[in-house]
Amino acid sequence: MKLNVTSLLLVLCVLCVAEKTECYRILATIATPSYSHQIPYRALWLELHKRGHKVVLVTPDPIPNINSPNFTQIDISHAYEIIGTLNFVQSRFNGQPWTQFIEEQLMAIGVNFVENIFNNTEFKKMYAPDSDAKFDILLTEYLYGPAAVGIAHRFNVPIIGLSSLGLASWAEHVLGGLVLPSHESTWEMEANTGTNLPFLKRVRNFVSFWRFLHFLYTELLPINQQLAEKYLGPLPPLIDIMKNKTSMVFINQAIAITPARPQLANAISFTSFHIQDKLPPLPKDLQEFVDSAKNGFIYFSLGSNAKSSTLPVKTQRVFCDVFATLPYRIVWKYEKDLPGKPDNVYSAKWLPQQTLLAHPNVKLFIYQGGLQSSEEAIHFGVPVLGFAIFADQDYQVGRMEALGVGKHLEIKTVTKEELKSSIIELITNKQYKERMINTRNIIKDRPYDIVKNLAWWTEYVIRTKGAPHLRSSIAFQPWYQRYDLDVIVFLTIVVFLIASSTLYLIAKLFVQLHRQITQSQKLKMN
Ligand SMILES: *[C@@H]1O[C@H](CO)[C@@H](O)[C@H](O)[C@H]1NC(C)=O
Ligand SMILES: *[C@@H]1O[C@H](CO)[C@@H](O)[C@H](O)[C@H]1NC(C)=O
Ligand SMILES: *[C@@H]1O[C@H](CO)[C@@H](O)[C@H](O)[C@H]1NC(C)=O
Repeated sequence: MKLNVTSLLLVLCVLCVAEKTECYRILATIATPSYSHQIPYRALWLELHKRGHKVVLVTPDPIPNINSPNFTQIDISHAYEIIGTLNFVQSRFNGQPWTQFIEEQLMAIGVNFVENIFNNTEFKKMYAPDSDAKFDILLTEYLYGPAAVGIAHRFNVPIIGLSSLGLASWAEHVLGGLVLPSHESTWEMEANTGTNLPFLKRVRNFVSFWRFLHFLYTELLPINQQLAEKYLGPLPPLIDIMKNKTSMVFINQAIAITPARPQLANAISFTSFHIQDKLPPLPKDLQEFVDSAKNGFIYFSLGSNAKSSTLPVKTQRVFCDVFATLPYRIVWKYEKDLPGKPDNVYSAKWLPQQTLLAHPNVKLFIYQGGLQSSEEAIHFGVPVLGFAIFADQDYQVGRMEALGVGKHLEIKTVTKEELKSSIIELITNKQYKERMINTRNIIKDRPYDIVKNLAWWTEYVIRTKGAPHLRSSIAFQPWYQRYDLDVIVFLTIVVFLIASSTLYLIAKLFVQLHRQITQSQKLKMN
C-alpha cells in the first residue's frame, strides 16, 4: 500500500514535470505591414499563450491590451510608412501584371519589410551572438521575404511557414510542391488561369510563370541572403534552410471556396478565425444612418491597401452617379472628403467592417476581393460585387462569381449601366444570398476547432523535433527530375532517332527500288 502511494506520488510528479516541459518558447515574425496579413493569425497567438507557452511576436500590428509576461510583442509598425508609398490602384490602371509588380516594385520594398525585423533594437538583443534567448520554434510569413528563415538557423529551430492567402508558388516549389501555371489555384497569374484554356494561352502562362519563378530564385533569394547575413553573419543558403527546417505550412484558405488541387503533405488550411465574436460598435451617426435605411444599404470598401480616393475622377463619378439613382443607402470607405457626395452616401476614412456586414440592413458588399473580406462576407451571408485591384484579388472575385455568390467587374472600364444592373441583380435576385448562406454552412461544417487544431500542430512540431517525417524529399530533387522532364526529353530523342532512321532506311530502299525499275525499263527499251 505504502509502495502504491509512493508510486502514485511519483507518477503525479512526473506528470507535473511533463506539464512543465510543455511550456514552449514560440517566436513569430510577420513582416508585411498590412492588416490583412496580420489579423488572420491573432487567434492562434492568443491560443498558444492561453496554453501556457511563451510567445514573442514581431509584428507591425501589435494586438492591443495584452499585458502578460508570457506574451512579448515587438512593434515594427513604422513599416507602414514604406507600404504607404505604393499605389496599387494606379498599377491596376497601368495594366501592370502582379508578377511584374513584384519584380519592379514590391521585391525591393519587401526586403525593407524584413529588415524592420532584423534592425529592431529589442529583437537585435535577442538574436545577438551573446544572447541567451532560446526558442523552440519559428512561425514566419512565407511570402516574398525569405530572409526571415535565417532566424530559424540562428536559434536552430524548426519553421512553420504562414500564408495569409494561397501559398505563393515559389514557396510551394521550394518545399517540393507542384507548380501549375494555368490552374485556377495559382493566384499569381490573376485572371489568366482557368479550365479548358486554349493551347497557346497555356504556353504563354507556362513561359511567363516559369520566368517569374526563375526571377525569384535568381534575384529575390540573393537579396534576401545578403540582408540576413548582414545581421546574422554567414549563413547556409536560405533555400536550404527553408527546405531543411520547414516542418509545416499553415495556409489561410477555406477549402470550400478554393479550387481543389494537390497540396504539400505538410500543409494545413485554416479560415476565418479573425472574425470577432464581439463586434465593435458603430459611430453614433453611422448607426442611425444604417438603422434607418428602409430599403437597406450597400457597403463599399476597397480595403486598406487600395484606396478609393486614388481612383481616377472619372471612375469615382461613375460610382457617385449610380449611387445617387439607387433606392439604397451607401456606406463608402473613402480616405478623404468625398467630392460631390450624393445624399444617400455616408463616407469615412475607416469603418468597422465586420459590424457593418453583420447589420441586418446590409444588402451588398462592393469590395476589392481581399481574402479576409471574402471570408467576412461569407460569414455574414452578404453577396459581393468585386473589383479586383492586385495580387490574389482577381482570383478571389472570380471564385465568388463561380460560386454564384457574387459578380465581378473591371474597375478600369466599368460603366454606369454595368454597375447599376449588377447592383440591382445582386440585391433583387435572392439566389445570391441563398448560395452565400449555403457556402457558409459548408465552411462551418467541420469536426474540430481550427484555432485549437493549429495550436496542436504547432506543439506537435515541437514535440516531434521538427516532424521530419512530414517533409517531402521531392524538395531536394532538381526541377527536371520532379516532373521526369529529363526522362521525357530522353525518350523523345530516342523515339525521334528510331523514327528518323527508319524513315531514312525506307526512303533509301524506295530510291534503290526506283532506280532498279527505271534501269530495267531502260534495258528493255534498248
Ligand atoms: C506564464 O507562464 C508560466 C509558465 O508556463 C505560468 O506559470 C504563468 O502562469 C504564466 N503567466 C501568465 C500571466 O499567463
Ligand atoms: C530599419 O530598416 C528600415 C528598412 O530598411 C529602415 O527604414 C529603418 O530606418 C531601419 N531602422 C533602423 C533603426 O536602422
Ligand atoms: C540540409 O539537408 C541536407 C540533406 O539532409 C544536408 O546535406 C545539408 O547539409 C543541409 N543543409 C542545411 C543548411 O542544413
